[in-house]
Amino acid sequence: MSNMGSYDERLKNFTWSIAAEELGYKDGEVVNIGWYCSDRICDLGKAEKTALYYEGFGGAQRSYTFNDIRLISNTIGTFLRNIGLVNEDRVCLFMDRIPELYFSFLGVLKIGAIVQPLFSAFGDESLFIRLENAQTRAIITQKKHLSKVRKIKDRLPYLEFIIIVDQLKETELEGKEIVFRFENAEPVDKMAIYPTKAESPSVLHYTSGTTGQPKGVKHVHLSLVSQYLTTKWVLDLRDDDIYWCTADPGWVTGTSYGIIGPWCMGITQCVLDSGFSAQSWYQFIEKNKITVWYSAPTAIRSLMKAGDEIIRNFNLSSLRHLASVGEPLNSEAVIWAEKNFGKPFHDTFWQTETGSIMITNFPGMKVKPGSMGKPFPGIIAAVLEQKTFEPIDEPGKIGLIAFRPGWPSMMRTYWNNQEKYNEKFVNGWYLTGDKATIDNEGYFWFIGRDDDVINTGGHLVSPFEVESALLEHAAVGESAVVSKPDEINMEVVKAFISLKPGYVPNKELELEIMNFIRKKLSSFAMPQEVEFVEKLPKTRSGKIMRRVLHAQEWGEEIGDISTLEND
Ligand code: PRX
Repeated sequence: MSNMGSYDERLKNFTWSIAAEELGYKDGEVVNIGWYCSDRICDLGKAEKTALYYEGFGGAQRSYTFNDIRLISNTIGTFLRNIGLVNEDRVCLFMDRIPELYFSFLGVLKIGAIVQPLFSAFGDESLFIRLENAQTRAIITQKKHLSKVRKIKDRLPYLEFIIIVDQLKETELEGKEIVFRFENAEPVDKMAIYPTKAESPSVLHYTSGTTGQPKGVKHVHLSLVSQYLTTKWVLDLRDDDIYWCTADPGWVTGTSYGIIGPWCMGITQCVLDSGFSAQSWYQFIEKNKITVWYSAPTAIRSLMKAGDEIIRNFNLSSLRHLASVGEPLNSEAVIWAEKNFGKPFHDTFWQTETGSIMITNFPGMKVKPGSMGKPFPGIIAAVLEQKTFEPIDEPGKIGLIAFRPGWPSMMRTYWNNQEKYNEKFVNGWYLTGDKATIDNEGYFWFIGRDDDVINTGGHLVSPFEVESALLEHAAVGESAVVSKPDEINMEVVKAFISLKPGYVPNKELELEIMNFIRKKLSSFAMPQEVEFVEKLPKTRSGKIMRRVLHAQEWGEEIGDISTLEND
């Protein structure tokens, strides 16, 4: 029997107060995620239980109890407070998946400040745009990423503190930089945790849209209620589980279910901070006896590609429950898992904006391979007709995935962009920007996005952001960025470029441009292919018709091109 019991039973008398009660939270009282994930677990008698088992590059290993994470997050929180940071200040975490990242997350929340996690794989321009937008006051980073921060810090007047978590000599430090080695600092046993309330801001995650700059999705401490209950009922975590969420906390999965969910339940979790290989992943599961594994389709496809033979070299019998998020999970992947691990991957659908799982295949429920499953209890979901925005009753008809607002972990706004936030609502529905169908048993089937955003290996990339960055390259006259199919990542970025006079298309230039974007933005935003063209397809009014290029890449019908500019 799963933690949830029967889905139909749960639907009947559902209220979010089920979670609030289990968490001992009452409306209007103080709720602080940092405290819930560490101090409370110690108070519940689990101080000596392992909270984190970490393995890094080259096999470095560290493990921490809940009391350790309570103490270390207190120590960090106190340090941040002592240098003058206060509630609602934005503090960016720009680190690999090292333990310091996880502890800082809790420490920042404990002083009521807003934590802004960003992928350490981001290049300087991606970092700059997000720090500038959030008017971030402090960044916590590693020596190895310092050069990117140094490159942009003078253009960031609000950035006052650059905190480095590893050793650097006094003489090596530049302005704004401070070294703080958490593990060498005097542990702080007691700190006054900032009394955040339900609506106090907690986490600021950046996500990409089709037009304009990335948007900061603002979450609040009440999100805990949704994250707790979905972790318990969907991921089915139990007290003796060993849990592995493969996501980086630069991404919402890595915070909602890679920090908050497991730790607010007092569950032991493992983190592997090294590059991907089937060998090392299976080894990690075997060695740590992982029981619950939350991953993503791109990783699963890579494992499938590595073949079934390698699996026989490992004892993976500890695995009890598998789940996936971020991209469409092909039915082949579900069936493959059943064959090789004796259980399917359970797909989960949600977004940075929703803060927690919205549609899913529940443990114990019939899994339909290729379907995303059904809405979480308390979530009212529909697919809407694309013109009227009215719910579609007819099974199998494509519409826009929408939710009735009001679940606890829903974003509260886009940072400094209430207008964009308001655009997400029509007729009292929150629009996800995705399309799906619902079958006659109420299962949702993902169709695709309703915009040009590229989902490459689970990372959302805005064509606009890549095009803007491309324009900064001396050779680029104009560009259009679309997706192209890819076996592992589902889709990857492709750039069509017309060159400025005097530049000649060749392989060298293609590589140079690709590298330029990788350094500026990130490896996932980097075009995997550059096609040089004389001119780009445009409407008569001069707008680039990405749709035409997209159709060409995917072998689809081009559709109406009556507005296409002719020579
Ligand atoms: O297009 C959907 C896709 O990822 C988008 C959300 O991305 P992000 O905000 O980065 O959050 C990802 C992790 C929660 C969605 O709008 N997506 C997410 N889950 C699925 C999915 N597409 C298909 N199937 C899924 N299970």
